[in-house]
Amino acid sequence: MNYPVWEVPVIGGPWVIGIVSIFHVLIAWFAVGGGLYLPLAERKLYKEGKEEWLPVLMRHSRFFLVLTSAFGAVSGVGIWFSIGLVQPEATSTLIHNFVFGWAMEWVFFVIELASAAVYYYTWNRVPRELHLKVGYVYAISSFLTLVIINGILAFMLTPGRPWLDVAGTGHEASRFWLAFFNPTYFPSLVLRSLACLSLAGVYALITYSRVDDPALEKTKISMIRWSAQWLLPMVLLLPVVLAWFLLMIPNESRVILQQGMTTIGIGAFTQVTRIAMLTVLTTFTIAGVVYFFAYQSPKDFSLGHAIAVLGLAVVATASTEYARETIRKPFVIEGHMYSNGIRKSDVDKINSQGYLTASMWTPDTMDPVKRGEYVFRGQCMSCHTVSGYRSMKRLLQQRDEKAIKKLLEMLHNPPKDSPYVKYMPPLVGTPEEIDNLAVYLTTLSKPPIPASGANGPMASR
Ligand code: HEC
Repeated sequence: MNYPVWEVPVIGGPWVIGIVSIFHVLIAWFAVGGGLYLPLAERKLYKEGKEEWLPVLMRHSRFFLVLTSAFGAVSGVGIWFSIGLVQPEATSTLIHNFVFGWAMEWVFFVIELASAAVYYYTWNRVPRELHLKVGYVYAISSFLTLVIINGILAFMLTPGRPWLDVAGTGHEASRFWLAFFNPTYFPSLVLRSLACLSLAGVYALITYSRVDDPALEKTKISMIRWSAQWLLPMVLLLPVVLAWFLLMIPNESRVILQQGMTTIGIGAFTQVTRIAMLTVLTTFTIAGVVYFFAYQSPKDFSLGHAIAVLGLAVVATASTEYARETIRKPFVIEGHMYSNGIRKSDVDKINSQGYLTASMWTPDTMDPVKRGEYVFRGQCMSCHTVSGYRSMKRLLQQRDEKAIKKLLEMLHNPPKDSPYVKYMPPLVGTPEEIDNLAVYLTTLSKPPIPASGANGPMASR
């Protein structure tokens, strides 16, 4: 443990990342999709001579500028805040490998922000041709920010053999491009791009739903119909791209999903399968709502409808992020680093030399409860909390110390067919440290007080 553990009560650290990411992604995707939407809409209005509509488009570009620059940038820094505190070890690995990637990202980001501001402030002030060109500069630079960050995000799920071969040697950066263009790079890029286009349509509907000037009615109708079509690529291509994506993910991740699929009939499919299905279902629900309420009856399309669609988009984004997170378990960087920051290659060393001894943050005490608590913080808190999300108190049920020791032995030396290895990293440390953890966990569980003479159903566990 190079870093201290940030203890977040109730929701746990992962949800801090989750909440910040979902918020950020909804804005960042809009920044990319909307960056293309604005100049294309502007071109359409010029071509069709819809001058009266320009003020509405200008208003949309103001909404766009405020949302993407203020909230997009602030929530982007929030991502660094949350991953830095919750996943310091993995963040450090990503920075070491992709330091030039982030340098590139920043360049595109500066161009993106500058051109967004120029675009907004030069409406009617520069020739139309030039204004459109600024719009395209924005569209290209914001898409390039996605091109970069997508490589780093996809890397965490599928770092690829070439990089894994040098992981931990100090020469990881020599495989920069191979790690960057990893197996899921392209399906992820297409998937994210489709989401960007859809969100551009959704946010445009928010602006247009508020237009109630009768003089603008005809244009409102045509613009709502045109914007609704931005969701079409997603609807048509989602199944194909998802299939492509699933083809490229590691076998273990696919097995988890497939297990879920085959048990759908008996209603026992896994949580991640449920969540992945939720993504598909909400996407098609969005498409249905947009088709019937926006495309078919654009005149009556209200702000309430638009916000409902945005709410569904939040659900779709949240479930996709959750599924992505879950299929990567127990790793944060697949095949290399477990969610608790322990490198797969360090497991044997830690088992023989000790976990707490290698940490700078071990309390100076021999109290087994305290030491056990530190093992828990370091190795379990990246996924569990004491009494909130994935609560240890709840999951331990009424196990007594003996049952807990048995469980920890399973986590430490998992049998090959153990269901736990699919989502939990191996417990590492010396036998004494594992004992300490058992003692600490026993303080959390509530063994029943056995009635005299009788053995309760839990006594045998
Ligand atoms: C990578 C994430 C992750 C880490 C790290 C992790 N767990 Fe888990 N654990 C899970 C998930 C997911 C479940 C299933 C939760 C559920 O069913 O609600 C789970 C379930 C459990 C259960 C209930 C199992 C059962 O069959 O009743 C226990 C006990 C448990 N974990 C203990 C631990 C301990 C102790 C550690 C640290 C040594 C740990 N976990 C580390 C993800 C993790």
